Order: sequence, then C-alpha cells, then structure tokens
Amino acid sequence: MKVLIIGSGGREHALALAISKSKLLSELYCIPGNSGTKQISKNVYIDLQNFDSIGSFCSEHQIDLVIIGPEQPLVDGLSDYLRGINIKVFGPSSSAAKIESSKSYAKEIMNAANVPTAKYEEFNSTDYWKVENYLRECEYPLVIKVDGLAAGKGVIICNNFEEAINTFKSISEEKIFGKAGTKILIEEFLIGEEASVFAITDGENFITLPAAQDHKRIGDGDTGKNTGGMGAYAPTPVLTESLSHEIEEKIIRPVIFQLKKEGNPFIGCLYAGLMITSEGPKVIEFNCRFGDPETQVVLPLLDGDFLQLLYSAADGRLDKNAVWYNGGSAVCVVAASEGYPDSYQKGFEISGLDIFDPQIIIYHAGTIEKDGKIFSNGGRVIGVTAVLNEFDIRKARDKVYDAIKNIKFENMYFRKDIAAKALK
Ligand code: AMP
Ligand code: GLY
Repeated sequence: MKVLIIGSGGREHALALAISKSKLLSELYCIPGNSGTKQISKNVYIDLQNFDSIGSFCSEHQIDLVIIGPEQPLVDGLSDYLRGINIKVFGPSSSAAKIESSKSYAKEIMNAANVPTAKYEEFNSTDYWKVENYLRECEYPLVIKVDGLAAGKGVIICNNFEEAINTFKSISEEKIFGKAGTKILIEEFLIGEEASVFAITDGENFITLPAAQDHKRIGDGDTGKNTGGMGAYAPTPVLTESLSHEIEEKIIRPVIFQLKKEGNPFIGCLYAGLMITSEGPKVIEFNCRFGDPETQVVLPLLDGDFLQLLYSAADGRLDKNAVWYNGGSAVCVVAASEGYPDSYQKGFEISGLDIFDPQIIIYHAGTIEKDGKIFSNGGRVIGVTAVLNEFDIRKARDKVYDAIKNIKFENMYFRKDIAAKALK
C-alpha cells in the first residue's frame, strides 16, 4: 500500500513511524514532513493550500491512503477535495472538522447529543454591554474562548472581573484573534484531571486508543501561557476501565452518531479533550485530528497493524481488531526554543540526538537538516520519549529525563514535571 502523510510536526513523525512498521506498506511519503520523517519516508515539498498539486501527486504516485495530521488542511477541505478525485483519506470532511474549528458548533452537537460539557453562554464580540453585565454576575475563575481556530491560544482562564473584561476587550476591540474571535463562549471553569481520548472512527463504528494526558502550559506546575503541548504520558491512571466505558458510551458514541445524523459523518480521529470532574467526565473540547504530543506516547503502546486500522476506517469498514494495547507506558518531554509560545530564536545546532537505546524515541518537530547536521527550526523542536513494555510511568519518566540530559541546543527549554501528576 502506498501512503501519504500530510503535516510536519512530532505527531506526523509518530504517525510515520507507526505506519512504517506495517506489513501492508510498500511506500511512504510525507508532505512536507520533517527531518525525522525523512529517515523513514520520502519527504516532498508541496504547499498544503495547493490541493491540485497534492491531488496530482497522489494520482501520479498511485497513493492508496492519505492521512491528514493537522487541523488546518482538514478545515480547509483537503479531505473533501481528495475524496472528490477518488482518493481514500483518513481525516474528516471540512464540515465534520467544524467540531474543532467552531467551538459553538461543538457545543451545538454536544447539546443535541446530551453530552456532558462545561456550562456556557455564547456572545457576539460586538455585544459589549451584554458581555460586561454578564461578566459582573459570574463566578470566578471562568474561561473565555474564541469560537474559531486560534492555534491553541484562544482559551483564556480569567480569575476575576478585571481580567475577564480586559480579555474581552482584547478580543472585541484589539481583535487579537481576528475573525476567530467574532463569536465568543464564556464557560464555567472545570476542576479535575485532564485526559485526551482518541477515537478512530469510520463515521459509525469506533475504537478508542489508550488515553493520554497532555501538559498544555509552558511552565512547571501548570503555570504560564497555554502552548500546543509541552509533554504527555500514557496511559493515564485516572481513567479506570469503568470511566473509559462511560466516556465511550456517554461522549464518543453519541457525538459520532449526532455528526452522522446531521449529514457530517466523521471519518478519522475524533479527539475528546476531557476533564474528569467529581461529577464525572466532561468535554473541554473536541479536535478533529490526533493530538500533538499525545500521539507520540499513544502510538508506541499499540501492537497490531496501525495502517490496517486507519485504512479500514477510511474505507468505511473499521477493523476494530487491527490494534490492541500492548500493556506498556510512555512519557514524552518536548524540548522547545526558549521564548515559545511567544517569539524565540531558531537555527541552533542540536547535539546528542544519536541515542542508541531501544526504549528511547526522539520525535522531530521543528528541526531542519543541513549538511548532515540537525538545527532547531521552530517552537517545539523535538519530543524525547521513553517507551516501556510494562506499565510504570515513574520508570518511564526517569528514563526520559535521563536521556534528555544528552541532548543540547542553545536556548533549549523543557518542563521538568511531565507525568508528575500520574505519580501522585
Ligand atoms: P483547549 O484549547 O480548549 O484545549 O483549552 C486549553 C486548555 O485550557 C485545556 O487543556 C484546559 O487546561 C484549559 N481549559 C479549557 N476549558 C476549560 C474549562 N472549562 N475549565 C477549566 N480549564 C479549561
Ligand atoms: N496537545 C493538544 C492538541 O493537540 O491540541
């Protein structure tokens, strides 16, 4: 089978690595890929907005399956375009991807399907007085979310009225999120442990993969700004078997059903971002794709044939037995450029990447290769990951922090407390 992966992050490196192990695979391509995927696939540069060129590439190379990693090409309609020229795609249509690109639509689906989520009110960002009055009556902390895509930055936790009104002004007057902030949601602040659950679905049937926990904030102890994710571990001890069952039956199944009922069947990875509250699991958000860096810890915990799983989903006849949890555990620590998620410098040589330990995987994200050397080339640079055959998060964490000591580049920054919550 000839497979094309779209994207260039650590997630796509992890997808490529899992796919490369499949017996079904004959050739693997990435558009555009990164210096990690280059070691296991052919990287091809095509602008992700140039659907015609991507389509021509698929036809010329007789691609059997396209796997789309990031949300933007999904939201832009790349899967619709490729399906329109008879190419199989793992990834939702643009209208199903709306579950991520519009938080308001996600709430609509959840309301219709009776799925537990944070209480909220929706406003137009021009409704200044309405919002001000509402914010005066609210309990704090609360969460302000812009409706549209904002690269993980459109969620602001406000501790008091002052913070909330200033946040609202920056959205409505300064328009810091542009069009994404035309509508906003003001949401109840949920307390609990977070978990990310991936459901692989053909639009009707689904399986869930081992749950992971991401670390969204830049600083230790979950402080500072939200990022794309600074590290993850899996499986999460917080999700017991009965909780996982509850999540499948009360959250995943009804949402997949509702999307299909509305004429937007979801084919791909439905990512449920959950808070496990004292009242049970509640949805924080849905994403229309695999999470990054959660994918880096979830995929190494699967035995079986991951390509078979994704191909069968794309083909509309999900093979629920294609993969299974192997009993292991994994911890990934993201090494970023100091300054991220704001501005940062890049272009520094990375040393120590040649670790020959079968329990360590180094996923590339923002890296670039020049003359056989690897340089930093983005905010999140690499994801150092320990993968054990047994369930021992403590051991995996110790191993990953031991390994990361060998890796160096100027302005390298990483959190020191990834997976600490799992050990409590
Ligand atoms: P999101 O971009 O929706 O994933 O939100 C980013 C992060 O903000 C989440 O991972 C949570 O840590 C936090 N967050 C979002 N919504 C809520 C909420 N209603 N209550 C508490 N924390 C939240
Ligand atoms: N790690 C969070 C995300 O992929 O959205």
